[in-house]
Order: sequence, then structure tokens, then C-alpha cells
Amino acid sequence: MALFKTENRRSNKTFSVLPRHLGIIMDGNGRWAKRRGLPRTAGHRAGADVFKAISKECGRLGIEQVTFYAFSTENWKRPKEEVDTLMKLFHDFLLTAKKNIEESDDMRIRFIGEREGLDPELLRLMDEAEIETADKPGTVINLAINYGGRQEIVSAVNRLIAEGKTQITEQDISDKVYTLPDCDLIIRPSGEQRLSNFLLWQAAYGEFWYSDVLWPSFKVRDLHKALRDFENRNRRFGG
Ligand code: FPP
Repeated sequence: MALFKTENRRSNKTFSVLPRHLGIIMDGNGRWAKRRGLPRTAGHRAGADVFKAISKECGRLGIEQVTFYAFSTENWKRPKEEVDTLMKLFHDFLLTAKKNIEESDDMRIRFIGEREGLDPELLRLMDEAEIETADKPGTVINLAINYGGRQEIVSAVNRLIAEGKTQITEQDISDKVYTLPDCDLIIRPSGEQRLSNFLLWQAAYGEFWYSDVLWPSFKVRDLHKALRDFENRNRRFGG
């Protein structure tokens, strides 16, 4: 199974430092569509294409893990048509990835979030994609679907309690959250400057990069801008 149509030649000649774990909040699809007199769903469709292009570039650069915020636990409150469109986009992406079996990208896909509430057929495709790409050596693409950062921490703590723990350390929680390593850089387009319940645990020392560009207009050059900025940050981790 290949996730993206790409040769996936890895080359990072451009950046002296890359985030090990990059988080991306794909925001601004609705506004992008509204400005063009289109339904919000058209914004999500355009956003899905950008997700693919940016994933490919992260793979080419050799970033270890990238987590995309695709659907939050709060997004169920949106109109049914919008929720259905998003679920169909996830479904179609996975079906296409399955058909691209002969392609040669080496990326791995993982899903983070609650399984409860998701359609069984989508869950089946998600499981299949995780299993079929599990041994790929390249970039790990984490797709956050039905994800909430608080929910992730609570579920980690509940699992520790179920194991009989009475004293919990930071390391215990780190061992139980969905993704590690810690998130080094979070990119949020569309002008909003909020974390919105994304990677709360992993982003404790994460750097933020904001841009006014709406996600469907986000280009590889915007990713490069964010990475260039990250390269020049002086990270002190509280020290
Ligand atoms: C927030 O923007 C975006 C979402 C709730 C959905 C993000 C999902 C995608 C871009 C599709 C990803 C597709 C695949 C295959 C992984 P918003 O619509 O709330 O923007 P607004 O603030 O302008 O209304």
C-alpha cells in the first residue's frame, strides 16, 4: 500500500535542523470556501489535496513524524453533511492508497483518536492501512480523527488505573499517549492562534508557527517558511 503517488526520494539539503515531530492544524477550509461562494465541503475537499501535497513534502524532507489534525472530538457538532463529507474524504483517501499498492512511497500511516463513533467500514480501512504500512521505514503520518488532547490524557490515565497504578509519573503517561516523540513544532494556518485541544501532552515544549494563509491555499513554500523559522529558534526547554 502506498499512501501518496510519489517516488519519495528523501533529501533534506535545505534545513540544518528539522522537527522530529511536526503537528499541523489544518484550519481555514470553511473560510476559503466561503470567500469563493462555495459550500464548506468544497473547502474540505481542497484541504484534502493540500494534506496530500504537504505529507509528500514532509516525506521527501525525511521528517520523522507528522501529525495532522483532521477531525476533533468536537467536530461531530457540525452539520451532518459536513461530517459526512469529511468521513468520505478519509474513506476515499484510504481506498486510493490501497489501490496504489505498486507505488513506491515508504511512508507509514497511523490513526490517533477514539474509535468509538466511527463507521465500521472506515475503521476496517484504517486498520488495514496501519497494518500494511507498519514496516515502512519513512515518515510516520499520524492522522488525528475523532481526537481530543484532553481525552487522550484521560484515556491514558484510565488505562494506567486499570493496570493497578496508584502513583503516576510523567513517563507513565508518555508511555500511554497515542504518539511520541514530543511535538517540536505546531503549524496553524488561517490566522488563529490557539492549540484547540491538539497534542496537549506532546506539545509541552513545542514551538508554534502561525500564518494567515488558509489551509486550502497552504503551499510547500509555506511549510518551508515554517521550517526555516523553526531552524532559527532558540529552544531552551524551560532551562
Ligand atoms: C477546520 O477548518 C478543518 C477541519 C475541521 C477539517 C480538516 C480536514 C481536512 C482538511 C481533510 C483532510 C483529508 C484527509 C484525507 C486526511 P474549518 O473548516 O473549521 O475552517 P473555518 O474555521 O474557516 O470554518
